[in-house]
Amino acid sequence: MKKEIVIAGGCFWGMQAFFAQMDGVIEVKAGYANSDIQNPTYEEVKSHLTSAVEAIKIIFDDSVVNLSLMFSYLFKIIDVTSVDHQGGDFGHQYRSGIYYQNEEDHSLALSMIKELQSNYKDKVAIEVLPLQNFSPAEEYHQNYLTKNPGGYCHINLAQLDKKHKKQDKTSLYKEAILNLRGLLDETVPNVTNFANSAALLKEKFPYFSWVGFYLADDSHLYLGPFQGKPACLKIDFDKGICGKSFSKRETIIIKDVHVCPHHIACDSDTNSEIVVPLYNQKNALIGVLDVDSFHFAAFDEQDKIGLEAIVQLLQKVLD
Ligand code: SME
Repeated sequence: MKKEIVIAGGCFWGMQAFFAQMDGVIEVKAGYANSDIQNPTYEEVKSHLTSAVEAIKIIFDDSVVNLSLMFSYLFKIIDVTSVDHQGGDFGHQYRSGIYYQNEEDHSLALSMIKELQSNYKDKVAIEVLPLQNFSPAEEYHQNYLTKNPGGYCHINLAQLDKKHKKQDKTSLYKEAILNLRGLLDETVPNVTNFANSAALLKEKFPYFSWVGFYLADDSHLYLGPFQGKPACLKIDFDKGICGKSFSKRETIIIKDVHVCPHHIACDSDTNSEIVVPLYNQKNALIGVLDVDSFHFAAFDEQDKIGLEAIVQLLQKVLD
């Protein structure tokens, strides 16, 4: 299930960068929490004209990562006894805190902080309060350290254990491309190459729940070779993510299919999807490659690059 928590631990640049690398984290927003004025600006917060705290909202998939792991990391990456100060920043907006939205998260935070306190003589200075409001910070603050590598960061980003990190997909795609090169054959019908490609991809990528091809005639896309549960047979060119990707001739990534109005649901357990247009040797658009996942936000730029490379490899053998 998709869940969210708002936490603070000093400058939101480093906090956002740290938690964004975590497996199961769908999105992290930098922003201002518990402000006494609506939608405060950075300047207002900095000038102490508000009660806001620099915070991050983490949206995560609780089937992959849980809140207690995130709280443990919060305790590890900041100075937990420091009041209104982390790293090079001083001021009440740099206090640390957990801002809960339900009783379950509240009691988890309290019990974990109680345990943390037993390891310290000084008082743990992480406030635990109900979330009153959260407004996203200005765009230039979002993913600041990705936009400005080497920018100020008070957190050691390397403290995230490898086993909690998002997977590096590059090596998976490299292997898949190598395997596919050995499997594809120009002398067999398209359907044969599609069948083996779907099987290879489903086998290789643990986060793919459904992999298959929708192939076009003059008016529709029809279900082609696939791996996974039975799926819908026929899709209009302007319907579904498949139809949109086909008619726009572009790769589409949907991080949460439940909030995508044109998504056609085949399996209710699917949470995210990527669709890539498919061409043949003559450069004619012939269909799409469709991949679903049970995870939210399973697909990113690395999948786009990887799957587009796979489709280009296929193109060389397709009539
Ligand atoms: N979700 C697709 C339909 C096909 S299934 O994912 C296998 C879509 O919206 O086009």
